[in-house]
Amino acid sequence: MPATPIIAPFPATRLRRLRRTPALRALTAERHVSTENLIWPIFVTEIPGGEGEIPSMPGVDRLTLDGAKRAAERAMNLGIPAICIFPHSDPDLKTEGCERAWDPENIGNRAIRAIKEVAPDLAVMTDIALDPYNINGHDGFVRNGVILNDETVEALVRMALAQAEAGADILGPSDMMDGRIGALRRALEQAGHKDVAILSYAAKYASGFYGPFRDAVGASGRLVGDKKTYQINPANRDEALRCVARDLAEGADMVMVKPGMPYLDICREVKDQFGAPTYAYQVSGEYAMMESAIRAGWLKREVVMESLLSFRRAGCDGILTYYAPQVAEALAQR
Ligand code: PBG
Repeated sequence: MPATPIIAPFPATRLRRLRRTPALRALTAERHVSTENLIWPIFVTEIPGGEGEIPSMPGVDRLTLDGAKRAAERAMNLGIPAICIFPHSDPDLKTEGCERAWDPENIGNRAIRAIKEVAPDLAVMTDIALDPYNINGHDGFVRNGVILNDETVEALVRMALAQAEAGADILGPSDMMDGRIGALRRALEQAGHKDVAILSYAAKYASGFYGPFRDAVGASGRLVGDKKTYQINPANRDEALRCVARDLAEGADMVMVKPGMPYLDICREVKDQFGAPTYAYQVSGEYAMMESAIRAGWLKREVVMESLLSFRRAGCDGILTYYAPQVAEALAQR
């Protein structure tokens, strides 16, 4: 018997072995973020002088129609597959009847056509909800303080048809009314827009993280009450899954969880249960939190990529993020 054993005591598993060098780490990375995973939300203003930086979203500008065209060209050159248009509409033209929501000449529809002219291969996504055109900032019609479901769905259908007519590739109903996906799908089929996709904001929570967005579209200060009678309670998970199941059954092609980072458990669950194309919206408040801390020097910019990776790890196929162009640029330089 040798005095010292030949096999020294050792840890059973040395997981650090594969973390030792950049090459080994690259080889064993389980998930990646690539430009193909990005959807870039932009704000387009119809107000003269309305363009420029949004104070609560440092680094994000409201764009003119020309600015939107330039953004589309930039997205196309970077290889970002889709851009999503949000209108900053004239406050004097907001009404209780929200008639401008389905006007072919509203700023959203003009932006769709303008972008399709310069970047025909870029997928154009829209937002379907009445809030940019509603005098009280709600996503639906309001009567005696109550948000009307079925009347709103009628209006959303008109809005969707106008967007499809303008050339949108992906419609994004963000309103959370019941029955809207089925109604939109049937109307699109009937009008001959069989190939227009619906990305349902299926699991959209009543979140405080939308604050800066409401500044961006000029809905802040205007909103009477809150959106808790139609958006999901942040306490709920089963309900979100029922919303996704319902929207897929009604004809949604893709589904979204929104906001993103506080709801990664929902992303994972949706992907596992339904296996449908699943997206997360890294919303304005998430952007504002990270960007302000980065600008203050409290966080390094690498947190942006880390945040996007968390969505990929949680099962998301793509992410709507205001960081899309910067991230695509960084990826192109690698
Ligand atoms: C409105 C809409 C909102 C967002 C997208 N569409 C705000 C809301 O529901 O009040 C939020 C996006 C963001 O915060 O970045 N239908």
